[in-house]
Amino acid sequence: MQVSWQTLQEQVSQCISCPLCAHRTHTVFGEGNPHASLLFVGEGPGADEDRMGRPFVGRAGQLLDKMIQAMGLQREDVYIANVVKCRPPGNRTPLPEETRACLPYLRGQFALIRPKVIVCLGATAARAIISEDIRITRDRGNWVNKKGIWIMPTYHPAALLRDPTKKRETWQDLQEVMKKLEETDVQNAASE
Ligand code: URA
Ligand code: SF4
Repeated sequence: MQVSWQTLQEQVSQCISCPLCAHRTHTVFGEGNPHASLLFVGEGPGADEDRMGRPFVGRAGQLLDKMIQAMGLQREDVYIANVVKCRPPGNRTPLPEETRACLPYLRGQFALIRPKVIVCLGATAARAIISEDIRITRDRGNWVNKKGIWIMPTYHPAALLRDPTKKRETWQDLQEVMKKLEETDVQNAASE
């Protein structure tokens, strides 16, 4: 059943469905345009996000903001969410059971936003959304279509901070995303 934004937000803020609830300061639901064509999905909150209760506000977030601006968009135009809504201790990768426990909330967000394109930032998002078998170095840049939504796996901005040589490929992937958004706009205009 489709739940409302308000219900979904309340459920997340009170959630104790996995052990990550014990470590959090704030849950990080996600934010942005509730009708965005473009949805970015990261891994999970880091220290800054846990403190603020907002996604991608630390160093990786500043880079994501730049990437969004380079696409000719504003942060407010898109929606930004994570696979898990509570910070894993020490920023470790979420465990499979934590991802499984939290994924219904992300699916609820998909259902409410109904984006045209989802960008998976890094392996955790790509594995949760596309397939367990994803390897980001091999599979980034390749579109996947699931239930009419175009999904693009690319590198996580934190990976770009560690290895700036990955920026070129990431920019290629984001240009593909821009093309896809334009194509879907043209199709919509034609069918109106
Ligand atoms: N990294 C993520 O994956 N998500 C955030 O919200 C911040 C950093
Ligand atoms: Fe609930 Fe997700 Fe937080 Fe786990 S990470 S407690 S499933 S909101």
